[in-house]
Amino acid sequence: MTEFAYTTTPAKDVKADVLVLPIFEGPEDGPGVREVGLAGAFGAAKLKGERGDTLFVQRRSGDRFAAAAVLLVGAGPRAKASPDAVRRAIGRVAAQVARFRTVATTFGQAARPTNDSIQSAIEGALLGSYRFDRYKSGGNERPVLERVTVLGRAGSDARSARRAIERGEVVADAVAWARDLVNTPAGECTPDYLAKQAQSMAREVGLEVKVWNEKQLEQGGFGGIIGVGQGSVNPPRLIELRYQGAAPSRKPIALTGKGIAFDSGGLSIKDAKSMETMKDDMAGAASIVATMKAIARLRPRVNVIAAVPSAENLPSGSAVKPGDILRHRGGKTSEVLNTDAEGRLVLADALAFLAEQEPRVIVDTATLTGACMVALGNDIWGVMGNDRALIRDLLASGRTAGEPGWELPLWDGYKPEIESAVADMKNVGNRWGGAITAALFLAEFVGDTPWAHLDIAGPAFSDKASDLGPRGGTGVPVRTLVDYVLSQAKR
Ligand code: BES
Ligand code: ZN
Ligand code: MN
Repeated sequence: MTEFAYTTTPAKDVKADVLVLPIFEGPEDGPGVREVGLAGAFGAAKLKGERGDTLFVQRRSGDRFAAAAVLLVGAGPRAKASPDAVRRAIGRVAAQVARFRTVATTFGQAARPTNDSIQSAIEGALLGSYRFDRYKSGGNERPVLERVTVLGRAGSDARSARRAIERGEVVADAVAWARDLVNTPAGECTPDYLAKQAQSMAREVGLEVKVWNEKQLEQGGFGGIIGVGQGSVNPPRLIELRYQGAAPSRKPIALTGKGIAFDSGGLSIKDAKSMETMKDDMAGAASIVATMKAIARLRPRVNVIAAVPSAENLPSGSAVKPGDILRHRGGKTSEVLNTDAEGRLVLADALAFLAEQEPRVIVDTATLTGACMVALGNDIWGVMGNDRALIRDLLASGRTAGEPGWELPLWDGYKPEIESAVADMKNVGNRWGGAITAALFLAEFVGDTPWAHLDIAGPAFSDKASDLGPRGGTGVPVRTLVDYVLSQAKR
């Protein structure tokens, strides 16, 4: 376990195996650089301060710093300095930094607001060095950072800085756990595995938890979850989590996420290429259980409930067939014309179940449509909903967290696309506007509750390494959701 500390000791006096200091593009000194006597060293090495530029300087007799070495790190243009620029600049060198036992940094002073930069610096260091090597022989041999010391300005508020460090650590831990769950192959990560993981997390951090099994789901009228899951030998689950941080009379924030442990498409089967990454179709669910873990550890004054549906979408003799009609929690029916549009079927039940509990808002997140990826690409989630303030707040949290989102219209005019001749709705529209018709389907289950839907089909999984992690599950939108929930807490 890595320890975290905060101090206002001047950078030159700090003892650490490596002291990590920012340089802005120019190159322009960042906090601490001049003090340790390394102004000009970066430029002399013909480095500009672009993200990814680094210069490693080992201490020699006569040097003006106490650390064993200094790592100068390019932080991009000073005009664009932001907590997210800090997160990415550190993330990019995090694997290199993680080889040292003790690390100190002034990166928390590189942008404002300072506390957001401190949180970002911790997130960058932990997420940039995230690896999923459980299945590699000879894995788990990576060195573990013993101590990270955040250097603050003299006279700054130590208590709020320490809280920012804690937020960074808790958020990064939750993101890493969400990534682990997404990266775990579907052969191991079944609906029951996901439920058991959530249960042991809940015990560890002190959350109320209830797991619904297939019989209970049947009796509870969760026809969407049952229908999608009926083709697999691994039965579906619904994971309920409750966090109480405020008076019981205060309405909770409600969260749900799509937990398709594997999406083969069902009888409307996908081609081999499209199926390759479909172990990631529970990324929404993973992000919600991980968000609940972070919330339980940070203890904001707000109530939060989650109900996460999980099922495997497989073809078999018992699978749901095109043309079948499912009856959802609350009574509405849907005609399943394409078994590959399964996410909305399980989410419908969860949304109806959450709406019954009269929360103040509902937020769902799902790897729901390829159409959203076509619209917004791999980095940006789409958001649609029935409440302006909620959408605005989620977009703002996404910006703070460095997980950008963009609103798509919940355009009523496309509603006829999901009208069915034989049921209340059908589960697919035509090819165009697929992210919107999917959201219009979900909207039918929330009643008047303020609600927003995050389509994370693009950013949930990355085909290539980035500043903040390797190829694979990204943990999006955990950082956004934790920021959103904290922003709603009463101080
Ligand atoms: N899980 C997929 C969406 C998806 C596709 C996520 C690619 C990540 C990458 C979802 O269940 C799905 O299959 N959606 C279909 C819907 C269609 C049948 C209406 C799609 O987007 O093609
Ligand atoms: Zn799916
Ligand atoms: Mn599908």
